[in-house]
Amino acid sequence: MNKWITNEILTSHPKPSRQEIEAAMACCIDKTLLMLRDFGDAFPGPASSHGFYIPGSNRSWTSGFWTGEVWLAYENEKNEARKEELKAGGLRHVASFMERIRTRDDVDHHDMGFLYTPSCVAAFKLTGSAQGREAALMAADQLLTRFQEVGGFLQAWGEMGAPDNYRFIIDCLLNLPLLYWAFEETRQTRYKEIADRHLHTAMTWGIREDNSTWHTVFMNPVTGDFDHGATCQGYRDGSAWARGQAWGVYGTAMAYRYTHREEYREAFTRVTSYFLEHLPADLCPYWDLTFSDADGADEPRDSSSAAIAACGMLEMSRHLEGAQAEFYADTAQRLVKALIDGYQSRSAQESNGQLLHGTYSKKSPYNTCTQEGVDECVIWGDYFFMEALNRLLKPDWEIYW
Ligand code: GLY
Repeated sequence: MNKWITNEILTSHPKPSRQEIEAAMACCIDKTLLMLRDFGDAFPGPASSHGFYIPGSNRSWTSGFWTGEVWLAYENEKNEARKEELKAGGLRHVASFMERIRTRDDVDHHDMGFLYTPSCVAAFKLTGSAQGREAALMAADQLLTRFQEVGGFLQAWGEMGAPDNYRFIIDCLLNLPLLYWAFEETRQTRYKEIADRHLHTAMTWGIREDNSTWHTVFMNPVTGDFDHGATCQGYRDGSAWARGQAWGVYGTAMAYRYTHREEYREAFTRVTSYFLEHLPADLCPYWDLTFSDADGADEPRDSSSAAIAACGMLEMSRHLEGAQAEFYADTAQRLVKALIDGYQSRSAQESNGQLLHGTYSKKSPYNTCTQEGVDECVIWGDYFFMEALNRLLKPDWEIYW
């Protein structure tokens, strides 16, 4: 067996028909409504337990994805009564996000974009929610407080300036759209300046020579230079954590969307090539791209990475032309078809999530994470799966990001 996927295997995978995409989305909407009724105003945690999310409070970096699912379901639902139910649920969530940022509850980290873009920016764009707009602008201001002048980056985690956390992480590329949105909304240049500076640092130091990405990058707090790269959730420091690479795919697409810088377009093609070249034959990555069908068949997958990368390729195909645009749009569709056929949960008895076989954090002898959510649904996997379906159904979709 080949160690890595070949272009022939990739292009031999079929694309989904419109009917298949519509059926997959219909199933997601049904499941979203069921869970909304079951959870009321509670939020799921990052990952399911034996296939089922458990209701909890609006905490962690992930609760925005649940509200994002509600908005995607709202956008795609045809029945007026169900649509109203989804809208009312989404707006109740927005009130919770306002309370969270107002009371500064669990917001001392960089994940303001993950939290406030698919929830509150989406609510504002879809319904004109003034509360959504205000909460999202407050979250953007909170994100600005994470900026480190020396090194020019948004510090991901921990106390500001703490030597063991003087770093940014690849995931942060998806937090930047909140700052670009805040700039477009207010015309205050500080949002864009800081987003641009973080992008420059992340693009300079986050992508390795072989086109894989560092999960986390430590900067020197005195000189502002690159210090060293390290993983937290990947297998080991030098390997490519699948989701980090997927954040890189979508993140470089967003970087290009907001700046139109040629080097970011090039970064997208590099990072995406690495991701695609390291997929197993069924197009759903192992949790770290170091594993392949040949030697990693016992390792769990991370289906969320395929969904995130598909969204990134669909986004980038909007900004490219001709054969290149077609290649990324087609490839994204092949990934989505693989997810529909092999990973989507279609029964409420099996799971209250949408996408099976995600991996949040798997402990290895070489990484620093705590094991959580291995071979489970993960809430951002559910969200990005729905976003990918939505993008395929509505090529001109006004994105939340
Ligand atoms: N942003 C954290 C993760 O992808 O697990």
